[in-house]
Amino acid sequence: MSFTFTPAPQIDLIQPSATLAINALANKLKAEGKNVISFAVGEPDKATPAHVGKAMADFALLGQNKYASPAPPALADAIIGKFKRDDGLTFERTQVTAGVGGKELVFWGIGTSVGKDDEVVIPAPYWVSYPEIVNFFGGVPKIIAPVRHDLKITADELRAAITPQTRLFIFNQPSNPAGVVYTKDEVAALAYVLREATKTNPRLVIISDDIYEKLVYTGSFHSLAAVAPDLLPRMLLINGLSKSHAFTGARFGYAAGAAPWIGAINKMLSQSSTHGPTIVQAGAIAALNGPEDFLNEWRTDYVRRRDFVLAELQGVMPCATPGGAFYVFPDIRQYLGGQYNSDKDFVLALLERELVGCVHGSAFGMPGFMRISYATSDNNLREGLARIKKFCALIIG
Ligand SMILES: Cc1ncc(COP(=O)(O)O)c(C=O)c1O
Repeated sequence: MSFTFTPAPQIDLIQPSATLAINALANKLKAEGKNVISFAVGEPDKATPAHVGKAMADFALLGQNKYASPAPPALADAIIGKFKRDDGLTFERTQVTAGVGGKELVFWGIGTSVGKDDEVVIPAPYWVSYPEIVNFFGGVPKIIAPVRHDLKITADELRAAITPQTRLFIFNQPSNPAGVVYTKDEVAALAYVLREATKTNPRLVIISDDIYEKLVYTGSFHSLAAVAPDLLPRMLLINGLSKSHAFTGARFGYAAGAAPWIGAINKMLSQSSTHGPTIVQAGAIAALNGPEDFLNEWRTDYVRRRDFVLAELQGVMPCATPGGAFYVFPDIRQYLGGQYNSDKDFVLALLERELVGCVHGSAFGMPGFMRISYATSDNNLREGLARIKKFCALIIG
């Protein structure tokens, strides 16, 4: 008898990652022999620093591939050292953990805090996975659509979004997809609102996703936890090495926060992945304890590319100057409404006709925009932007 598998109903609550979907489409066209340029994926085009690779190679030769824990003592201490050094924050071993990418920790950070009908406040444009994961756990995403041109949310917008049902606020800077970086005063203003909100809403907790913290070009990075350490008992800080150490394929993320929250995450890891690969943990220890001077060169390179992209887009589509990460997020609304009804139609046609992959803004909660990742070669940027300009000129006619 034939049988067609249908997934459990909760699987319908979550959509596949839009960025990965566009990238898969771009890769399919590439496999057909087309000269595709993909600006769709958020991945450094750099090599993982050699000292990290060597630590993994050395570990592999020990032949010690045993079960461990999410963050064995040497790894926990490396994570603790990072937060001390960078943010002046002190954590115990019970307050840190690690997982298979920052994504796994975002997944369980949300999964261990959000219950049915809990509201989760998320500023747009947001990383595609946040609302999907919230939906999966029965929560209700409450999106703040910023009105400021630089796409930062204001204290008033945050205040208006928090209700007695709010369980979680997710804060991400530098942000994916817009590269938004908040000043210290702006972070302090948001922290003030959160502090006030806890007086009437004692269940309120915060995830601070700082995975792009090493890629800041304008001003400096001020983590919410460092600016408002009094909020730490209700915070989960999520970070990873994907962006800072070009470690996307190795899958390593880490987190710090209140011991009960970390304990709940570890409980879920004990029933799912158990822990990340020990060989990757060895690389992570080397990365977290090791030099970061290579980042100066990377940052110089990214800023140069960012400025090139912004200059090329000038007069073609308005675009705020991102302070960090490796994305620009231009406004394409002037090209919509005629041939292309939506940003998604626009990026799909751009991919089909000009073979350039970008991700539509609606995937990030901001219809009418699109994300361009500039973590790619100068040649790709030059050629891809020329094609985007040609595509836009054809629409205008
Ligand atoms: C904002 C943000 N958070 C978390 C992640 C997760 O990264 P990873 O799972 O590779 O550590 C990403 C990846 O693109 C991201 O953009």
